[in-house]
Amino acid sequence: MSKPAKKSAPQPPRNATKVPAPKVGLLTDTATLRANARKNIEDGAITSTYGADKEAVIRLLNDALATEYVCVLRYYRHYFMASGMLADAVKAEFLEHAQQEQAHANLLAERIVQLGGEPDLNPDTLTARSHAEYKVGKDLRDMVKEDLIAERIAIDSYREMINYIGDRDTTTKRILESILAQEEEHADEFSDLLDGWIGK
Ligand SMILES: [Fe+2]
Ligand SMILES: [Fe+2]
Repeated sequence: MSKPAKKSAPQPPRNATKVPAPKVGLLTDTATLRANARKNIEDGAITSTYGADKEAVIRLLNDALATEYVCVLRYYRHYFMASGMLADAVKAEFLEHAQQEQAHANLLAERIVQLGGEPDLNPDTLTARSHAEYKVGKDLRDMVKEDLIAERIAIDSYREMINYIGDRDTTTKRILESILAQEEEHADEFSDLLDGWIGK
C-alpha cells in the first residue's frame, strides 16, 4: 500500500513578487519611546510624532463645528415648520438629520479638545463661520432642496479637509471620513426625495 502523499506547505506562485517586510530597524527603540512619552506630558494625546499643523487643524475643525450647528438649527426649523401632504415622512428625516448633525458636532468638539483647542460655540459668529447657510425654505420642497444644497456644501468641505490633513493626523482624518460618509447618505436621501416628489 502506498503512503499518502505528505501535505506540503502552500507555496507562493512562482512569479509572485514578494512584499518586503518593514525593517524593524526603522522603528523607534523602546527606550526612546519611553523617554519621548515623558516629555511634554501636558500635551496629553498629542505626542512629538503628531505630523499635522495642530493650530490649523483646530481652526478647520471649528469651522466644521460651526457648520454642523447651523445644520442642526436649520433641520430643527424645518422639522417644526414642515406641513403639507408629505410632511409626516419628511419631518422624520429632518429630525433624524438634526440629531445626526448634533452627533457630528460632538465628535468634532471632542477632537478639538483632544488636540488642545477650544470648541468655538459663540452664537454671534456661528453663521459667518459656517460653510452651509441657514435657509428657512418657503415650502416643504424648498426646505428639502436647501437641505440638499447644504449637504453638498458639507460634502465638499469635508472632502477638502480630509485631503488637506492626509495621513499627518489619521485620527482626525478617520473622524472626518465617518462624518463625510453620513453627509453623503443625507444628500442621497434628499436627492431621492426630490426625484420622486409629487405635487408642489
Ligand atoms: Fe453633519
Ligand atoms: Fe448632513
